[in-house]
Amino acid sequence: MNQDVEEKLFASEEELKAIIARLGAQITADYAGKTPLFVGVLRGCFIFMADLVRACDLPCTIDFMVVSSYGKGTTSTGAVKIIKDLTENIEGRDVIIVEDILDSGNTLSYLKKYMEARRPASIRIVTLLDKPDRRTADVKADYVGFTIPDAFVVGYGLDYQEKYRNLPYIGVLKPEIYS
Ligand code: IMP
Ligand code: MG
Repeated sequence: MNQDVEEKLFASEEELKAIIARLGAQITADYAGKTPLFVGVLRGCFIFMADLVRACDLPCTIDFMVVSSYGKGTTSTGAVKIIKDLTENIEGRDVIIVEDILDSGNTLSYLKKYMEARRPASIRIVTLLDKPDRRTADVKADYVGFTIPDAFVVGYGLDYQEKYRNLPYIGVLKPEIYS
């Protein structure tokens, strides 16, 4: 796996921890007195969300959705399919959608509208990574861990063809792997 990575995105795993601690502190302050519902978008969110909720000093509940917006390549097909819906009733809840990466924005703009229709008290988006150069849908994250240039990255939950999710860091995949 390591040999398929061109460069690491962060100098160290500590740097990644510091970013998540910062996001957790912001969310803790912003949601003081509330009990937010974190909705993770599987599968990419699984490691980030596990670290993020532990960085939030708040009563909270969690839920997950499984969506698929990608075929086998590295660019979005534009269509979002719900494979697993919400388990919780989100009406009146303060929902925080947790994503690994915001790319074209298709997935999150679709999910935000989908959830808004279920009348939560509020909805915000937290994403570990943001690739604004590739945005085509009108959606913005409220909390961003790190803004990155247009490169395909893997690790720390993010995959290429379902692999590399278990890399303990985030790295840019060598283009020869997918071209
Ligand atoms: P969007 O709908 O184009 O914003 O894509 C969002 C989803 O695409 C993310 O949740 C990821 O699963 C996937 N994705 C986008 N860019 C990357 C990347 O660089 N590496 C791995 N997955 C990615
Ligand atoms: Mg994915």
